[in-house]
Amino acid sequence: MSYNSQPTMPPLALQERLYERRGGVESLVQLDELLRELIASGGPMPHEYALLNRALRQLGDTVRAKVVNREDVLAYSHDITSRHLEGTMQARALGKKYGYSGDFEIIEAIYTLQTAQEPHLRRWDLYFHSQAAPNAVRNRKAYFHQLLNSHTAGRAKAPVRVLNVASGPARDVHEWVLDNPEHEVFFDCVDAEIHAIECAKKMCAPFARRVEFYHRNVLRFLPSKGYELVWSAGLFDYLTDRSFVFLLKALMAVTKRGGEVVVGNFSDFNPSRDYMELLGDWVLQHRTRDHLRELALAAGAESDAIDIQWEPEGVNLFLHVRR
Ligand SMILES: C[S@@+](CC[C@H](N)C(=O)[O-])C[C@H]1O[C@@H](n2cnc3c(N)ncnc32)[C@H](O)[C@@H]1O
Repeated sequence: MSYNSQPTMPPLALQERLYERRGGVESLVQLDELLRELIASGGPMPHEYALLNRALRQLGDTVRAKVVNREDVLAYSHDITSRHLEGTMQARALGKKYGYSGDFEIIEAIYTLQTAQEPHLRRWDLYFHSQAAPNAVRNRKAYFHQLLNSHTAGRAKAPVRVLNVASGPARDVHEWVLDNPEHEVFFDCVDAEIHAIECAKKMCAPFARRVEFYHRNVLRFLPSKGYELVWSAGLFDYLTDRSFVFLLKALMAVTKRGGEVVVGNFSDFNPSRDYMELLGDWVLQHRTRDHLRELALAAGAESDAIDIQWEPEGVNLFLHVRR
């Protein structure tokens, strides 16, 4: 390199300077400029994730302050996604193939870290998967596995019944049974989406005698064989407080004495929230630990039977109610 050569400013450093100069009202324009630049360069690299996250957070702040309209941001997101990001996780999340966010296919794609084949799209998927929320989803599968381990510890021959509420792809069940063939654990899986049931049935076909599937809306029907463990992840964070309490009560009623209900819910600490809500139109009921405790009490749980835990990201909380 010549000593006389002028260092050229990396485009993203230039973007950073622009952020400092502009006020919040231009946050959508800034995000647009950044996204276009990243699209032109073949997608975000890991060292650019923080910049993109910051742009999203700034935009989130202006939406919360009602300076920018969320609907306008979503219209923008649909536009840029359909023009440049078709086939990415971002496009799939926004596309809502089954009519709602968080369907079994997206969840399965998160578990299996699916990425587009095309290099310029793949980098967007790597960015998607790197975020706190998909990590929390993968961590909750591990959390369920640990729960199953603790419920089956020392009872290799005694049958354990587990109710999996809104079971989605049932990859969690599939993986645990494959790793623990010696345990007599029987799963009842309920989901309202027939495609989820079909996919999960296929995945669990090698051990079909251990897993029964119910294609039902859990707000209307629950199997009631009596369970040592009742588990639900990725459902309660879509429910209003009223439905939360109604369903938790119903789950407690089908849990055996000495057993427990464990319900996942995203916490109010979710660093991916702006990305999810503004680019993915993926809106959840984020709840604090105190709020979860209040709802459990409202469902009739004894105060000393309630415990709240979380996975390593601290994004997905788990409300435990012992029976
Ligand atoms: C985000 S996924 C979670 C899947 C799975 N629990 C997991 O964590 O891998 C949510 C699932 O809930 C199902 N679902 C949503 N509302 C439901 C309801 N009222 N009754 C039964 N299933 C429901 C959806 O069909 C979807 O498969």
